[in-house]
Amino acid sequence: MIYPLARRMLFALPPETAHRWTLGGLHAALAVPGGGALIRRSTRAPGRPVERLGLRFDNPVGLAAGFDKDARHVEAMAALGFGFVEVGSVTARPSPGNARPRLFRLPADGALINRMGLNNGGAEATAARLAALRRRPVPIFVNVAKTHDPALSGEAAIADYVASIAAVRGLADALVLNISCPNSGDGRTFEDPALLRPLLAAAAGALGGGPPLLVKVSPDLEPARLEEVARLALDAGAAGFTATNTTVDRGGLATPGSRLEAIGPGGLSGAPLHRRAVATVKALRGFVGPAPTIVGVGGIRGPAEARAFLAAGADLIQLYTGFIYGGPGTVRRICEGLG
Ligand SMILES: Cc1cc2nc3c(=O)[nH]c(=O)nc-3n(C[C@H](O)[C@H](O)[C@H](O)COP(=O)(O)O)c2cc1C
Repeated sequence: MIYPLARRMLFALPPETAHRWTLGGLHAALAVPGGGALIRRSTRAPGRPVERLGLRFDNPVGLAAGFDKDARHVEAMAALGFGFVEVGSVTARPSPGNARPRLFRLPADGALINRMGLNNGGAEATAARLAALRRRPVPIFVNVAKTHDPALSGEAAIADYVASIAAVRGLADALVLNISCPNSGDGRTFEDPALLRPLLAAAAGALGGGPPLLVKVSPDLEPARLEEVARLALDAGAAGFTATNTTVDRGGLATPGSRLEAIGPGGLSGAPLHRRAVATVKALRGFVGPAPTIVGVGGIRGPAEARAFLAAGADLIQLYTGFIYGGPGTVRRICEGLG
């Protein structure tokens, strides 16, 4: 109830500052005796258990990749009701990402544009943090991407992914291969079959009998290309998909074109992505049949968008932007609405 007021203050700050302050405040509140119990009581989502990927989820609503890149907030996010948390993207080498500003709010659209550029402290550091967790209150997915370095391509790029996978495989409940980041430095993604086939083979080899592999796809793929990516992924032994990453399409936004031009390049997330992401899940489900797991993500703000993903064939759902706009009660609101 007080979040609209808090949001007005937070939205007066640069987005990355607001992110840091909010999480600082949450950690401080959790550290106060009784603080954790109070927060958990006020944000606890009603149980809606799901079993998938050999895991049990108290509810199907997860935190999407990018919010907790370095696995610093797993317990705090579980306290806010998330049924699972995806950390990362992590990359083999640490990276500061792109120059700031690189994250922009589009309040008129309920959206964000980001070109963070895969800033993270590196897979080894995240692995150490995961290993040091006192508890694992919810399943933890780890998302891996290629180090943000345009010079890294071909076999070196694959070796880079493999190094990350080797670092985190024993600590992840599921491994998400991010092949669809629109801010990859060289502007290329790994959705080109000539690159994807050897990458998938190497990733599956690096995982061995380890955690299940999900492949995160873009909402901007043509249907034929999406079907090909899906087939290659399943042939390599992937257990499913996360759909979708951000879009590079900016059609139909309420935000003025002059503002979009001033922002510059980046991936769009939030409400304007929703229909496209749901359509991607629906198409994927049609291509792959009932068995593979699909995590639906893109523009979820409340129960209506969550239901749209589940109806399209998603087993689990995630959000990032809707959490920024909706605040700490968002997961509970979604779960209550799902019934
Ligand atoms: C600031 C920001 C950073 C992100 N970083 C990552 C990332 O590192 N890896 C990744 O796979 N997706 C990343 N994403 C994409 C989200 O995980 C998600 O797929 C996308 O934002 C759509 O969901 P949403 O509309 O609920 O935000 C990022 C999104 C945002 C807004």
